[in-house]
Amino acid sequence: MQENNTKRLDEIKDQVLHCTQCPLHKHRIHAVFGEGPYDAPIFIIGEAPGAKEDETGRPFVGRAGKLIDELLQEYGLSRNKNVFISNIVKCRPPKNRVPDKKEVNLCFSYIEKQIALINPGILVLLGATALKSFTGTHEKITNVRGKWWKEDGRVIIPTYHPAAVFRNPAYRKFIKQDIQTISDQYQAW
Ligand code: URA
Repeated sequence: MQENNTKRLDEIKDQVLHCTQCPLHKHRIHAVFGEGPYDAPIFIIGEAPGAKEDETGRPFVGRAGKLIDELLQEYGLSRNKNVFISNIVKCRPPKNRVPDKKEVNLCFSYIEKQIALINPGILVLLGATALKSFTGTHEKITNVRGKWWKEDGRVIIPTYHPAAVFRNPAYRKFIKQDIQTISDQYQAW
């Protein structure tokens, strides 16, 4: 990783932590930048911080985070080694509602810059908000998960948000299949 990229990412982190671009900042305890190696080959994108993430300033530390960490670990993947994990929106929406279009648009340049600087080979979109914000598609996640495609030299892999497993336990096996795809692409990368 170039020293300059590390410096740029630290600058963006500082901007995120002090961001007041949208009203979500008024209710936050912490904005959540994301975590993982700055040269991670795999970049996972969720929706927005929840209560635990807002409290700690770290992404995916609640129930959904524990599940995704556990599933990644089975394939030797982790945010300590090869995965950077962040969200489309960096501040928690009230009552964990889905971030609206304006909030997504105002926050989007942060994730764009993070992706450009970390430059991962594999981009994983967790759930509908990440899929829609990133691709602009109105396709349902159910219709696109299990598929992957290449864009700007990166492999894009959409899958269910891990929180969906708590509503529908059958989704666990689909997320596992998609993590197998991530692992296969990582081996080939
Ligand atoms: N859900 C998300 O989408 N992101 C988090 O950081 C936590 C839960």
